[in-house]
Amino acid sequence: MKSGPWHRFIRFTPSDMILDGTKVRQKRLDLLREEIDRSGLCPRLATIIVGRDPASELYVRMKHAACEQVHIGSVGITLPASANSADVIREIDVLNCDPDISGILVQLPLPREVDIVQVIESVAPEKDVDGFHPLNLGRLLAGHPFFSPCTPLGIMNLLDEYRIDVARMHAVIVGRSLEVGRPLGALLLSRDATVTTCHSKTGNLAALTSQADLLVVAVGKPRFVGPAMVKEGAVVIDVGTNRVGGVLCGDVDFEQVLDRASAITPVPGGVGPMTIATLMENTFLAARRLSCPGAW
Ligand SMILES: NC(=O)c1ccc[n+]([C@@H]2O[C@H](COP(=O)([O-])OP(=O)(O)OC[C@H]3O[C@@H](n4cnc5c(N)ncnc54)[C@H](OP(=O)(O)O)[C@@H]3O)[C@@H](O)[C@H]2O)c1
Repeated sequence: MKSGPWHRFIRFTPSDMILDGTKVRQKRLDLLREEIDRSGLCPRLATIIVGRDPASELYVRMKHAACEQVHIGSVGITLPASANSADVIREIDVLNCDPDISGILVQLPLPREVDIVQVIESVAPEKDVDGFHPLNLGRLLAGHPFFSPCTPLGIMNLLDEYRIDVARMHAVIVGRSLEVGRPLGALLLSRDATVTTCHSKTGNLAALTSQADLLVVAVGKPRFVGPAMVKEGAVVIDVGTNRVGGVLCGDVDFEQVLDRASAITPVPGGVGPMTIATLMENTFLAARRLSCPGAW
């Protein structure tokens, strides 16, 4: 591991250079459970899943398991794959009005017949713990976030836990999805990073990624980024979750990049666990705000 630009802020032992999302998640969930127990509130998350996609079902099960761990109640609604936009929105309307529900999560992707924009816009912004409602995205872009999407916020929390200060860093994000790249750009900008966002039409990608002090990769292509694309001493965040021959791997060639990076997330065990921890934190935040009229 090479020394990176953030070493001027704090010293780490070599084992800190692999950013351990599983460990950090556990620590944050333990703290959250204590806080929830002390609060006297009963936060509750509702999930909606449409169809029987095994990956989506697994993610939803993991979210419900995390709820149980931190004493957040949860309710799961499963709609058939034949459900249309109106069917999904009807369920959301009921949850929006239910005072016992603090947060609503619609598991993505949705079947093609369901209008994702209409569905996301039908979630009450104050229960939008995924942070995808245009009002929440707008507030994030304006620099006054209310709910931020869980994966980007989870990345920021992971960096914070390791005292990696992004101010003045050149952050290069590969991928411009609504779920990851775009909101992460806004969060990094608000923390004084200089942000470059790349996508499939970006020319000479390697020339940009190899300038990055902080490189975040969210493209969904196994081991897409190799050592030649990484600056020595960079902090590398791998968002990718790909299955190759039944084995999970990221968008970064971890083994090859490890020696060039000053800090790097593994897959699995990096960003993924942080996403779920952040969903739990957002759900408690929603419950606190809902219990306190005027917070919204
Ligand atoms: N760990 C987690 O919690 C978590 C959460 C969310 C996603 N993920 C994973 O992260 C990965 C990305 O997810 P996503 O939802 O952001 O994906 P997505 O919506 O498919 O977006 C992929 C992005 O990568 C860009 N891209 C594709 N090929 C490229 C290339 N050759 N060069 C440069 N950019 C390229 C695309 O550019 P265009 O816009 O031009 O098409 C797009 O912006 C997936 O593996 C997903 O499973 C993990």
